[in-house]
Amino acid sequence: MTAFDWTSILEAQESNRPLLFYTGAGISREAGLRTFRGDDGLWQEYDVSEVATPGAFARDPESVWLFYQKRRKQLRDVEPSGAHEALSRLEAENPNLRVITQNVDDLHERAGQESVVHMHGELRTDRCQQCGRQQPASREEEPPECERCGGRMRPNVVWFGEQLSPEVLDTVNDWIRRTDVVVVVGSSLTVAPASTVPDRARRAGAEVFEVNPNPTPEVSFPEGHRFQGGAGEFFRSLEQRLRE
Ligand code: OAD
Repeated sequence: MTAFDWTSILEAQESNRPLLFYTGAGISREAGLRTFRGDDGLWQEYDVSEVATPGAFARDPESVWLFYQKRRKQLRDVEPSGAHEALSRLEAENPNLRVITQNVDDLHERAGQESVVHMHGELRTDRCQQCGRQQPASREEEPPECERCGGRMRPNVVWFGEQLSPEVLDTVNDWIRRTDVVVVVGSSLTVAPASTVPDRARRAGAEVFEVNPNPTPEVSFPEGHRFQGGAGEFFRSLEQRLRE
């Protein structure tokens, strides 16, 4: 196997050039949260169509709500991983480092990350289905009513079959256009349109890398562009090289 080529990542970080990290459930796995796919993935235990679609919420709002309340509780019980912490330290050094995440957890923010955009929404807020008003996530066992319009509140996440927020997509496209180096950390790259980010970045002229203990078969990367290991191991090694 060809050795991982650190050159472009180190150069971008050391010269404060745009450097984009694109994260998925794998980075939060090291904090203790489950991924979606794989043997112990959430989608082995739950049927997506019953907990993560607008139709499921219309049919059975209480069950869908409880699924998210359980995930919120799990999230409160964990701390950001070493990888989240390292990424935040790198941002403190490089003002042009950005994070796009598919994760709905707030572990990047809790590690101190500032430039982070959530493609699939966030667990830390609820949103009114009717008027769109947002508020901090409720801890109730049933979806509360909106204080403004009486509509039903829902977790502020993107469900299967829903569009991504146009503002978020604008930011994502803008960051992709500005960056020369993209590092995909811990995503199976299976859910569109999020899965198209690496290809779009490549078409826009960026060099794209992958960090994953189980390389994604669907997407091909040039030699030296796959780090076959965990997120924590990758960031430890990157910080070590930056110190040398
Ligand atoms: P997946 O669960 O599909 O993939 C997680 C990836 O993390 C896999 O490729 C693992 O090999 C990798 N992984 C495991 N341990 C790792 C580690 N220690 N370090 C780095 N990588 C590791 O999660 P996502 O790709 O994030 O969408 O899933 C994408 C979307 O599918 C989610 O945002 C969610 C889900 O359905 C919605 O809910 C809309």
